Amino acid sequence: MNERATLKINADGHLTIGGADAVDLVKQFGTPLYVFDEAHIRNMMRVYKNTIDSEYNGNGQVLYASKAFSCMAVYAIARQENIGVDVVSGGELYTALKAGFDPQKIYMHGNNKLLSELELAVDSKVGYIVVDSFREADILDELASRRNIKQNVLIRVNPGVEAHTHAFVQTARTDSKFGFSISDGAAEEISLHILSKKNLCLKGYHCHIGSQIFEKQSFALAADKVMDFMAEMKIKLSFTAEVLNIGGGFGIWYNEEDPKLKYADYAEYLKVLIQAVKNKAKEHAIKEPYLVIEPGRSIVGEAGITLYTVGAIKEIQGIKKYVAVDGGMFDNPRYALYQSKYSVLLANRADEKCTEKVTIAGKCCESGDLIAVDAALPKAESGDILAVLSTGAYNYSMASNYNRNLIPAAVLVKEGKSEYIVKPQTYDDIIRNDAVPEYLK
Ligand code: LLP
Repeated sequence: MNERATLKINADGHLTIGGADAVDLVKQFGTPLYVFDEAHIRNMMRVYKNTIDSEYNGNGQVLYASKAFSCMAVYAIARQENIGVDVVSGGELYTALKAGFDPQKIYMHGNNKLLSELELAVDSKVGYIVVDSFREADILDELASRRNIKQNVLIRVNPGVEAHTHAFVQTARTDSKFGFSISDGAAEEISLHILSKKNLCLKGYHCHIGSQIFEKQSFALAADKVMDFMAEMKIKLSFTAEVLNIGGGFGIWYNEEDPKLKYADYAEYLKVLIQAVKNKAKEHAIKEPYLVIEPGRSIVGEAGITLYTVGAIKEIQGIKKYVAVDGGMFDNPRYALYQSKYSVLLANRADEKCTEKVTIAGKCCESGDLIAVDAALPKAESGDILAVLSTGAYNYSMASNYNRNLIPAAVLVKEGKSEYIVKPQTYDDIIRNDAVPEYLK
């Protein structure tokens, strides 16, 4: 048994998450419903934090990449766990601040931050802004100057390492809307530009090489390249970078093709990275940088499931069987967007053998609105509860009101007890911002 497992099957044959019976959760909160296990979220935050503490003398910081799942409660958990967060929009920043998050521990990302977002970031005194364009550097310097402050910034660079799940590629020049390429001199140019700004304080560099990565070496390689660049900048520009932020991307289990990692495996990712950083510091005789990581998916992904009620079932003779649920691409667009493969089960009959392969369809008016294809299940009946696993990351945060469906509520389970962390939307919420011009009335 994996010690990270939050899902079990109880004596009634029901799926449990964090000690709560999924059937009871549905009775109490209805479906569709996002459910999160708090212990799982905290444990993952701790693995990363403890590893930086023990292997790197605490000379670094874990940031929860809140784009994976952003709501006030999750920032409150991160705050209690004494880690930082990364935010990528005014909305995420606002939510973190409203949750009482220490702004000094907030890093602000974005390839095209709006003026209003930069103003909010500077005014709320966020710790670091990760600059991603010349224009942004100019605006930020101006904003800081008007407020008579010096804003700490990092530069987003492209080390030419791109990773995808089980492999990584090295490219001379990354074609990306993010960051400045190291290899073509752009990263050096923006460094010079920022160093010339009176009200910006360049602290170091950031990169993010991809997501859902299982290849440990890819993080080490990215660190190697950025550390080489840091050493070069020291010689060329007499600039000593203090911070190295290596981004997020650690992979999680979604389906039988993915490994089920243990806590020790996540610690191992970080150890490999830390070793690379130490080696490079020694090689170049530079100070070991303050090391920042930004895991999102691996903190909340496996902590969450989505519960649905099975509705219409349609068998197309000789072709396939569709099992439709009361959710769909509006609460989980990841199959529609990326053909992501999810594991599903019947939460009220979790101990029964799978006897058929079906396609799980959503309720949106769109053929591509699927949640899973070729999913093995016991013979599903209308009224069964379908659980989709590993939906904690990039589901709620990517949900929409497509077809004016309501975005489901989210509940947090702690030692078997559950509470809302996102309340259900209502139809009044749906029309809240609608306006009808007088002449149409
Ligand atoms: N830091 C930066 C700068 C990022 O861009 C990201 C993710 C992360 C950290 C967190 O990466 P993670 O640890 O979660 O892999 N919507 C896609 C995922 C997009 C990830 C974008 N950036 C999905 O549903 O798979």
